[in-house]
Amino acid sequence: MFPWLGYGHITPYLELAKKLTTKGFFIYLCSTEITLSSIRTKIPPNLSNSIELVPLPLEVSPDDLPEKYHTTNGLPPHLMVKLKEAFDNSKQNFSSLLQKHKPDLLIFDFLQPWAPPLAEALNIPSVIFITSSSVMTSFMFHHFSDPGAEFPSENIRFRHYESRFMDELLANARDCEEREKGSAGVNMSREIVLIKGSREIEGRYIEYVSGLTGKRFVPVGPLVQEPDDQKSSSELLSWLDQKEAKSTVFVSFGSEYFLSKEDMDGIAHGLLQSKANFIWVVRFPETEVLLEDKLPEGFLDKVGERGKIVQGWAPQTRILVHPNVGGFVSHCGWNSVMESFKFGVPIVAVPMHLDQPINARLVEEVGAGEEVLRDGDGRLNAETVAAVINRVVVEDGVRAKVDEIKARLTLMGDGEIDEVARELMSICSKSLI
Ligand code: UDX
Repeated sequence: MFPWLGYGHITPYLELAKKLTTKGFFIYLCSTEITLSSIRTKIPPNLSNSIELVPLPLEVSPDDLPEKYHTTNGLPPHLMVKLKEAFDNSKQNFSSLLQKHKPDLLIFDFLQPWAPPLAEALNIPSVIFITSSSVMTSFMFHHFSDPGAEFPSENIRFRHYESRFMDELLANARDCEEREKGSAGVNMSREIVLIKGSREIEGRYIEYVSGLTGKRFVPVGPLVQEPDDQKSSSELLSWLDQKEAKSTVFVSFGSEYFLSKEDMDGIAHGLLQSKANFIWVVRFPETEVLLEDKLPEGFLDKVGERGKIVQGWAPQTRILVHPNVGGFVSHCGWNSVMESFKFGVPIVAVPMHLDQPINARLVEEVGAGEEVLRDGDGRLNAETVAAVINRVVVEDGVRAKVDEIKARLTLMGDGEIDEVARELMSICSKSLI
């Protein structure tokens, strides 16, 4: 497996790896050391004989990537750029690893344009695993290939203040097509595409994108990290234990992007004006900052016992499964959305970038949450933030639907993985003939 560098990409690969080991696969999971470090402790000891982490040696000088940065989720943006450059310059090293380990199949991220041709040169078939949603992927292919045709849903669109994302999206789609062309014809297995998600949620988009591309999109299931069952209780979780059932909202915007000062103000005042308790994970591009300098003046004094501000990182899945959490103010990164669905947590959607607005529209479409609409200039308004939190969390506005989605996903179990395992086994055995 060769995921892309970001934390939101490598974790679904690890979850897929874990599932596939139960079906008899041995997995090499290859990435840069700094990326692997973010997941090393997440491999259960009983799987250490079935999953091997393989570090990709990077063509980079230690001055460019100081060793004190251990994981990608703490990496400042300018160093992330360096890491991406070094990654793209390490093709030869990846090829050497393929020659050394000789896998029967390469599973790669579609953000890696250069990996499949290297595998194909060694007669190793490859399959794409897309970690984004099917709604987003189908929307992208739709606008790229046939924008005049009817899209399966008219709810799924960018709002006017998000128009710049459409250009970025089309640029991505163009890239994808180039990559496909780069290896077309050599690889017999490329008629299937693995995608993170479930037919229970996105059935019609999975069908649509399969028809549009002529490839069979096979969903791998929600692939949600189970909350680690460390018994050691943190101060944060003890604080949450004291709150009433479903009274607290978890506020977090993923591992890659940072809130603008205006969005920060809108969220801070919105939380104070709402009737919910809150845990807010705040992240900044700078490494050393004082919260007082970054949050609105006087905010920290007003929080009191109602809220906890966590700087940098919090154990998201452990918090989401907690019975006293009643909602999730989220940017709608696809992992966060799936975690909410799986654990039955209503979403207050505050999308910020690229795929997140489209995921947020899906959240509303399936009835699992409500989006905070920005004003005409794209600004977040504190009153609106508070009103949506109150409707979704305090008044339990979407609870019945969220419980139903959770029940359907639970019932589905690992059904989709069985199908994926059969498909992959068949590709591996064909390549051995
Ligand atoms: C990125 C893109 O931003 C997103 O748009 C895309 O859909 C996936 O890739 P990211 O921003 O990291 O993802 O968000 P998300 O997909 O939600 O993944 C974040 C992951 O980090 C989740 O699994 C979440 O549980 C975890 N996390 C995040 C924590 O455990 N603690 C935190 O404090 C923040």
